[in-house]
Amino acid sequence: MSFELGTKLFLVLFIVCFNGGGSGGVVIARARQMTTAGPKTALHLGGGRKSLIFNVKSFGARADGTTDDTRAFKAAWKQACETTGTVSLVIPRGVYLIGPIKFAGPCKNVSNITIHMKGYLKATTNLSKYSFGSGWVEFGWVEGLTLTGGGTFDGQGVKAWPYNSCPTDLNCKLLPTNVKFVAMNRTVVRGITSVDSKFFHIALVECNNFKGSKIKISAPANSPNTDGIHIERSSGVYFSRSHIGTGDDCISIGQGNSQVTVTSITCGPGHGISVGSLGRYRNEGDVKGLVVKDSIMTGTANGIRIKTWANSPGSSAATNMTFKNIVMNNVTNPIIIDQEYCPFTSCPTNPPSQVKLSDIYFKNIRGTSSSAVAVALECSKKIPCQNIYLENVHLDLSSGEKLPTSSCKNVDAKYFGTQIPPPCA
Ligand SMILES: *[C@@H]1O[C@H](CO)[C@@H](O)[C@H](O)[C@H]1NC(C)=O
Ligand SMILES: *[C@@H]1O[C@H](CO)[C@@H](O)[C@H](O)[C@H]1NC(C)=O
Ligand SMILES: *[C@@H]1O[C@H](CO)[C@@H](O)[C@H](O)[C@H]1NC(C)=O
Ligand SMILES: *[C@@H]1O[C@H](CO)[C@@H](O)[C@H](O)[C@H]1NC(C)=O
Ligand SMILES: *[C@@H]1O[C@H](CO)[C@@H](O)[C@H](O)[C@H]1NC(C)=O
Ligand SMILES: *[C@@H]1O[C@H](CO)[C@@H](O)[C@H](O)[C@H]1NC(C)=O
Repeated sequence: MSFELGTKLFLVLFIVCFNGGGSGGVVIARARQMTTAGPKTALHLGGGRKSLIFNVKSFGARADGTTDDTRAFKAAWKQACETTGTVSLVIPRGVYLIGPIKFAGPCKNVSNITIHMKGYLKATTNLSKYSFGSGWVEFGWVEGLTLTGGGTFDGQGVKAWPYNSCPTDLNCKLLPTNVKFVAMNRTVVRGITSVDSKFFHIALVECNNFKGSKIKISAPANSPNTDGIHIERSSGVYFSRSHIGTGDDCISIGQGNSQVTVTSITCGPGHGISVGSLGRYRNEGDVKGLVVKDSIMTGTANGIRIKTWANSPGSSAATNMTFKNIVMNNVTNPIIIDQEYCPFTSCPTNPPSQVKLSDIYFKNIRGTSSSAVAVALECSKKIPCQNIYLENVHLDLSSGEKLPTSSCKNVDAKYFGTQIPPPCA
């Protein structure tokens, strides 16, 4: 069967479920010709609820890995977004070559929209097709989106990484993020994979109420700026049970976030879990209400890092942050607060950082450090860190040799329970 885009003659398949009070309902399917609506399936869920299903293949997606299927995806989304009630967009197994695409709302009459993605999406490698700074696959202004199904977003970053000048140039052009969520409410992302993103793998900007779980992220340890999950100006964010191995931060929590919880993450290779970098731009929002717990970092450059730039053009704060039950396996800087963050060969350090760090708890942090300084608390000369608590920290040197050490600047930390390395004098 093949469908020509733009024709008005579509096949509509109705699947009717008679829900016998639980599982094991009877399914009846019948097909008929329709002259108005698009290729869609109505799934009656019982109890008067029904869900319309839109399959990208019915909109002309070829899934041959070489034909650009972007138009079919756009057409399927447009129809899904314009319907009423509970909607599903289905991306069946197969390899789809996709250019930059925006799944944009608002979908006014849609209460929930689920994308069942079993397919393998490959990003086009032609960089002139992307607008710099935007995403490859971007979701925006949608309420009640669920993205699930075990599918993969392959950014094909290998060919793009040589064009990334950001590691050396402050004013670089940003390559596209694999999957970007902008101004979304009530989002669930479960059981998807992102590989070899050109830039960040997953980014959230101005999202409220976001739950991510069972996400797999991978890119080589030396791939530039391939942060696993970047979160900015968002609130009510929860990530759990995910594995991230990449070339930059596994998770970076940027400015303006509140109520963010990260739990049961394995990270490595990568640069660890970071708050920041903060204080680079004017008018940044505060970070508050962060919990990172029950996670394992293996062979990463940092474990838990809080990084702020010196010479910040504005002032802001990061407060009420808890990091607990974290295992460090051969991590270079297991615990590090760095208020003179500088990814370049040099950065101005005057004036000192104006980001105020306070109420930060490190609890039950254990494992090994591959560098001598296992705990570095280096705060701003202008605004010293306040209320920094360390409780039961046990970090040995990976080499098995002598004790690691602590380093402190402009901080008066409070210590409880075990402390290896010993606290700063
Ligand atoms: C939403 O539903 C209302 C009432 O059924 C209808 O009048 C309106 O046109 C629909 N809006 C869209 C964007 O489909
Ligand atoms: C819509 O999604 C929410 C979760 O975001 C869920 O609690 C609710 O049951 C869903 N509603 C329908 C009608 O599927
Ligand atoms: C890359 O995309 C641009 C813009 O769409 C197009 O003009 C150009 O022909 C493409 N290059 C290749 C090699 O396909
Ligand atoms: C998300 O929620 C905020 C606050 O309730 C609201 O202002 C905004 O319009 C919502 N966005 C969407 C896409 O529904
Ligand atoms: C600190 O953050 C936690 C987790 O988000 C929250 O439950 C708690 O209410 C916050 N405490 C204060 C004093 O704001
Ligand atoms: C620890 O990490 C360092 C690099 O940071 C590496 O050279 C070393 O082989 C690792 N050791 C173990 C035991 O994995």
